[in-house]
Amino acid sequence: MAKRTISDLRSDELRGRRALVRVDFNVPLDGTCITDDTRIRAAIPTIKALIAGGARVVLLSHLGRPKAKVDPQYSLAPVAAHLAKLLNAPVHFCAETDSDTAVAATQSLEDGEVIVMENTRFLPGEEKNDEALSKAFARLGDFYVNDAFGTAHRAHSSTAGVAAFLRPAVAGLLMQKELDYLGHALEKPKRPFIAILGGSKISGKIDVIEALLPKVDGILIGGAMACTFFEAMEFETGESLVEDDRVEMAEDLIERAGFRLTLPHDAMVAPSIEEASSAHAVKRDAIPEDEAMLDIGPDSAASYARAILTAKTIVWNGPMGVFEKPPLDAGTMAVARAMAEATAKGATTIVGGGDSAAAVEQAGLSNQMSHVSTGGGASLEFLEGKKLPGVECLDEQER
Ligand code: 3PG
Repeated sequence: MAKRTISDLRSDELRGRRALVRVDFNVPLDGTCITDDTRIRAAIPTIKALIAGGARVVLLSHLGRPKAKVDPQYSLAPVAAHLAKLLNAPVHFCAETDSDTAVAATQSLEDGEVIVMENTRFLPGEEKNDEALSKAFARLGDFYVNDAFGTAHRAHSSTAGVAAFLRPAVAGLLMQKELDYLGHALEKPKRPFIAILGGSKISGKIDVIEALLPKVDGILIGGAMACTFFEAMEFETGESLVEDDRVEMAEDLIERAGFRLTLPHDAMVAPSIEEASSAHAVKRDAIPEDEAMLDIGPDSAASYARAILTAKTIVWNGPMGVFEKPPLDAGTMAVARAMAEATAKGATTIVGGGDSAAAVEQAGLSNQMSHVSTGGGASLEFLEGKKLPGVECLDEQER
C-alpha cells in the first residue's frame, strides 16, 4: 500500500510546525569541499515544498561512517553552507542533535526557516536504533518526514525508530519518486521489461537476480560476475575474478533461467587493470590463461544495446566493466548511451544508484534517464523485494 507523503498533509499540519526531515546528505567530500552534491539537490523539492507550506524545517542526516563518535571530518557544517547556496537563503546549523540545546534551536525557528542538525552517526544510539535516542530525535519536530531513500534500508533511530514517537510520519517527495519509479517497474512494467546487472561479484547480486527472474523478460549480465557463470560453463577464465564458492549456484541459475538470462559472448581482457591500454577482445570461451576479463566485449555491448532499444522498461544496476579506466569503460558507456536512446523513444529507464549512477554521470547522460536512484544499497534491496525499514515506518495512505 502507498505511503502518505507531504503532499497529503493539510496546510494547518504544516504551517508553523516543525518538520523533522531525515535526508540523505551522505555526500563525497574532499576536505570541506563537496565533490558531488546530487543528493543535496535531490532533497531540495521537499525542503522547498515545506518552506512554501510555512513549516519550520529541521534536517537530520548522517555523513560517512564516523563510528558513533564526534569526528570533525564528518561534520555536516559544510553541507549546511552548501545547502544555503542552493536554496539561496540562510540555513542554520546546530552542532548538537539530541540535547535541550538542539531542541531549543529547533524551537527558535521562524516559519519557512531551515536548520541542519549535526551528523546523527556521531551518536552511539543511532545505528543501534536506540529507543531513547529515537525519543530524543522526536523532540526536534512536530511531525516526521523521511526523504532519505538512500538510507531507507537501514533501521536506525533517525531513519525508522523516531517514527514510533512522532506522527504524522510521511514520505518526502524524493522518497515518493524513488518508490514510484522502482515500485512501478516491479509491479506494472511496460513490456518488454529487462534488467541489466553488472558488478564484480555474483554474491552481491544473487538475491536481485532471483527476485527479478520471475518478473522480467530478460536479464543481461555484465561485469566480472559473468566470469563465475563462465566458470560454471567450464570455460577458461584466466586471471578473472571468479567466486569459486558460487560456481554451483551460477550453474543452477543458468539451468533455471534458460533463455531469460543472457551472458556476454565476448570479453575485453588484459593482464591487469593497470595494463588497461593493452586490452583486447576475445570470445568468451577464449580468455587467455594469463589475462582477466575487465569489460564486456564489443559484440556483447552492441547486442545489449539492441536489446535495450527493444525494451519498454529497463532497470540497470552495476557496471559492465572497470568503467573508471578507459578503454575498459566501453561496455558500460554503450549501455548508458542505449539507455538514453531508449528513454528518448519512450521507454522507462531506471538506473540503480552507486556505481551505475556514477557511470551515467561520467557519460553526461544522467538527465537522459527516466530516473537515476539516489540509493545504491537501498535500490538493490528494494529490487530484491526486501522491506525497507525507512519506508515501513511511515503512515499508510488513507483510502
Ligand atoms: C549510502 O551512501 O549508500 C547511504 O547513505 C547509506 O550509507 P551507509 O552504507 O554508510 O549506511
